[in-house]
Amino acid sequence: MLAQEVIRRKRDGQTLGQTEIKDFIRGLTDGTVSDAQAAALAMAVCCRGMTREEAIGLTLAMRDSGSVMDWQLTGPVVDKHSTGGIGDNVSLMLAPMLAAAGAFVPMISGRGLGHTGGTLDKLDAIPGYQSQPGLEKFKAVVAVAGAAIIGQTADLAPADKRLYAIRDVTATVESVPLITASILSKKLAAGLQYLVLDVKTGSGAFMAEVEEARRLAESLVAVANGAGLRTTALITDMDEPLASAAGNAVEVQNAVDYLTGKQRDDRLSRVTLALGAELLVASGLQPDAATAERRLQVTLSSGEAAERFQHMVTLLGGPADFVARAEHYLPGAPVIRAVHAEGEGTVERIETRMLGLAVIELGGGRRVTTDAIDPAVGLTQLAGKGASVDRDRPLALVHARDEAGFERAAATIRAAYQLGLAPPHQSPLLARVGVP
Ligand code: URA
Repeated sequence: MLAQEVIRRKRDGQTLGQTEIKDFIRGLTDGTVSDAQAAALAMAVCCRGMTREEAIGLTLAMRDSGSVMDWQLTGPVVDKHSTGGIGDNVSLMLAPMLAAAGAFVPMISGRGLGHTGGTLDKLDAIPGYQSQPGLEKFKAVVAVAGAAIIGQTADLAPADKRLYAIRDVTATVESVPLITASILSKKLAAGLQYLVLDVKTGSGAFMAEVEEARRLAESLVAVANGAGLRTTALITDMDEPLASAAGNAVEVQNAVDYLTGKQRDDRLSRVTLALGAELLVASGLQPDAATAERRLQVTLSSGEAAERFQHMVTLLGGPADFVARAEHYLPGAPVIRAVHAEGEGTVERIETRMLGLAVIELGGGRRVTTDAIDPAVGLTQLAGKGASVDRDRPLALVHARDEAGFERAAATIRAAYQLGLAPPHQSPLLARVGVP
């Protein structure tokens, strides 16, 4: 294969053959394809798109660029993947809930991307938690606790790792086939049997328009099933934060409070249960969505889900009494103060992306990839759409490293909130994309 010929054919709008795709990805993995050639092909795909067959071929070739996990377990192997949002800590609760309901959840998560938070950065707020334990340890924790949430390892889909880094700096991230292959190659390499995708839309999502989200969801579902992974997707609302907390330690605390029943944010709960039900039904553990949601509720009320979470944390090096004493272990910020709206009224609109940027400004996310994260900072008690705010009822509590950080975040948060008429009540569950 001549890489430049593959690039030329895609540049001219032709359909690539499976062998061409495989050879190109092999070259990407063994270094015989240069960064310039990979960038050129990524740009050609961005401009010309790919057929479903090409996208499936690309996904499988990227999956096969590293090891593919093989699970010999007594229950179905399932996972959930979100396209990213603000206050989206669903994974922290859903993985142990599914484990308690009879599934095994090997969850490989990412760090924050753009304005969105990353599950891995959140888990790093737990003292001692090993988020990069190596594949053998990962397998052992999944087998014993039923769930393990860790970071991407070098062995799984290395071609994606290289291509993603190149796309990141060549304006080629926003391509439906490239996003599809990138997400799914890692999921397929993790050896899953069932996957549910949470495709976010709204002011805090990468796909702000619901039609864009639908196109991505349809591509993901079609390619995943085409590649042999049973997958469905829910399109969910990210026009306001999902949990009432955004940041790292604060989202872990919110998840622990959810698991123990101390506090459960309503929209977060609806999305978590709906995603979980998709997997329990698809994998045959439950007969229908309503029964599956009830089973998931029981994992909470019985304390089984909280126990599974604790077990996972302990096996991965965190404190053995973390769930009982999370406040004691999670780092706290020196300045915790309320930010109020200029006037009073009802929250009509939230520029949710700006809340993510406020977390980054506080130090809870990265401006450049080498930045260290401050796990203690973030936002809590975030007012949702339709909430009444005034001098007593704040827009949010800011957890800041210092006064200057508080002031910067407060200004961003005030700018993110628009007061006016109460918006009509809207379910966070917007649409479902099933097997084609
Ligand atoms: N997440 C990924 O893993 N890959 C993409 O291309 C976009 C989001």
